[in-house]
Amino acid sequence: MRINRKLGAFGVLAGLCFTAGMAQAADDPVAVRKAIMSSVGAAAGLGGGMMKGGVDYSPAAGKAAIATMRAASLSFGAFFPEGTGEGDTGAAATIWDDADGFAAELAKFSAATEQAAAASGKDGPADLDSFKAAFGPVMGTCKSCHETYRKKN
Ligand code: HEC
Repeated sequence: MRINRKLGAFGVLAGLCFTAGMAQAADDPVAVRKAIMSSVGAAAGLGGGMMKGGVDYSPAAGKAAIATMRAASLSFGAFFPEGTGEGDTGAAATIWDDADGFAAELAKFSAATEQAAAASGKDGPADLDSFKAAFGPVMGTCKSCHETYRKKN
């Protein structure tokens, strides 16, 4: 009984934290999606650096780059409510005008990160070649989405 009650309290707490997080996200979805894409940019810098050889490869760093991409691909699409295409955002109006096309780009992104996460396993890709095989396709998804769904500077 005691244990159950403790678990119950924990569940409520976790629920509250989750709700608070959601409320914050709903208040400023533009800031959240930009922050998620900055993390994608950072992971691309790390992963790309290792692929090009400027950064020494390690399975742990490979795993970190992949995990960041995976998390971003799963969350990013939730922060594009109608009416958030104006102002200080790089999101193009095509996101809302062509919602199916945007969803398809998101699906490509998450399919690539799913494969990469599967290849990454518990300890990260064992060597640089297996990292390249896993991470390359993720890097291949940036351009086509940006071309159509991100504002040109
Ligand atoms: C499904 C579409 C999509 C994919 C895939 C995607 N991006 Fe983006 N990206 C966007 C959109 C839309 C924005 C603009 C968001 C905003 O400003 O509201 C953006 C913005 C960015 C930014 C600027 C973030 C900021 O601080 O404002 C960076 C950096 C970035 N993307 C890097 C990448 C990289 C690297 C990849 C590939 C690994 C990638 N993106 C894949 C849609 C995408």
